[in-house]
Amino acid sequence: MNNQNQLYDIGVIGLGVMGKNLALNIADNQYKVAAFDLDEHKVQDTVQQEERERKQYLKQVTEPRILGCNNLSEMLSKLEKPRVLLLSVPAGAPVDGVCKSLIEAGIESDDIVIDTGNSLWTDTVEREQRYNKDFLFFSCAVSGGEVGARFGPSLMPSGSLTAWNRIEPIWQAIAAKVDAKTGLPIERFEPGNPVIEGEPCTTYIGPAGSGHYVKMVHNGIEYADMQLICEAYQLLNQGLGLSPAEVGDVFERWNQGSLNSYLMEISADVLKQADPLTGAPLVEMILDKAGQKGTGLWTAVSSLQIGCPAPTIAEAVYARAISTQKGQRQQLSQLLSGPNEMLKLSDPQAFIDQLENALYCAKVSCYAQGFQLMAMQAKEQAWQLDFAEIAKIWRAGCIIRATFLQSITQAYQQDSKLENLLMAESFAKGLSDKQNDWRIAVSTAVMGGIPAPCISSALAYYDSYRSATLPASLLQGQRDYFGAHTFERTDKPVGEKYHLNWSSDRSLNKV
Ligand code: 6PG
Repeated sequence: MNNQNQLYDIGVIGLGVMGKNLALNIADNQYKVAAFDLDEHKVQDTVQQEERERKQYLKQVTEPRILGCNNLSEMLSKLEKPRVLLLSVPAGAPVDGVCKSLIEAGIESDDIVIDTGNSLWTDTVEREQRYNKDFLFFSCAVSGGEVGARFGPSLMPSGSLTAWNRIEPIWQAIAAKVDAKTGLPIERFEPGNPVIEGEPCTTYIGPAGSGHYVKMVHNGIEYADMQLICEAYQLLNQGLGLSPAEVGDVFERWNQGSLNSYLMEISADVLKQADPLTGAPLVEMILDKAGQKGTGLWTAVSSLQIGCPAPTIAEAVYARAISTQKGQRQQLSQLLSGPNEMLKLSDPQAFIDQLENALYCAKVSCYAQGFQLMAMQAKEQAWQLDFAEIAKIWRAGCIIRATFLQSITQAYQQDSKLENLLMAESFAKGLSDKQNDWRIAVSTAVMGGIPAPCISSALAYYDSYRSATLPASLLQGQRDYFGAHTFERTDKPVGEKYHLNWSSDRSLNKV
């Protein structure tokens, strides 16, 4: 930068994959960025990439759009006040480490610090209070991985409205965009050339912590959606004997219909990839032990704590856990009996179509669980979450982007108080029409000895909600029997408690 006194619009701290790409995205949108990382190579790498891209794609721009800083004090001196600082550091202690260093470096009380990592939402609530007197702590959960960060992520900001009003134009500019008429993503992956038309995939979510909570649930749904696709792969591969590439073809076809999604698209791509070392299908060379960073687990834990059924999300976390027990699985595969041969189906093509419907139903069920969880937590925390807006900003940029998010948007636009997505007319009808295929898929998996924990738990969720009566009556009887825990009666006012003297005269007492 020739002009030494020029002030920069935003500081980006942490130039790993996400930080670097967010910085480049912001620069493409004509904001001037000051960048810092403890690792000076990352600073150089970011500055050099900006230079390469500018020279190749923006010949008319001669001045660097990103300034590499040597330390936080230098960064603070280069920023327009009140300053805006975007943190892209790992969740947990590193966030507090940077906040502490910023205080030491002289950050001021009206400066804004935005945590864009996958922080635990309760940490965010706590941090907003803790740093209140030093600066405005704001948070913005980001989804979309490397490419999303670079060319348009889905952004879930929450916290101080003063901070939001200040950063909103930048956020709108860098977010993924959706065509307002079709609801489909507007995709353009070229440096220096941002998408400016369309609806930006960002909206103010609510008070501190709510954005990270919504992102956490996004990830819980992501875990479930990924596992559902994996179960369909195993049924087609192990059950029907289709090769990975053939399953990839099936997924490509499904991706043209109601299952159209980014995760379906990349799954087809992964399945068709050959291993560069052996030439075998790459998926057969990848060790079947799933990793996880924890957000799916947090979603499942939160659902249990709050008493919101999210069995498919929890099953997806368990599926990853069981996958890591490779040794035990190998041992038990020799010990436990069950069907091992391929499925004997009279019409395999008909089964593929039934599985497509089953997957669609299971997907709706798992999104219903995620949205219900957000609704229950919102009630508990007194957050006014706008679910139509949340579905809208997930239509592009994020990992779970899917055409079907447009239908969820419409369902919440029609009824913002919708208690459960299964109650929306379009979904209720779609699932009712397809549920038989769902049952065929689940029973085929069960009889074929192929685990399908998410497809089947999603069906159990559907069946549980369609049951006006559940055997919890017996359960209450059991609890009263051994623990005198009392029960309510179907013929008496809600809240009136009864106990039967099981061990003596079996008389009924109102408690
Ligand atoms: C996203 C992703 C991302 C996720 C990582 C790791 O929305 O961009 O959800 O935030 O945390 O991809 O996820 P794992 O838990 O599977 O490692």
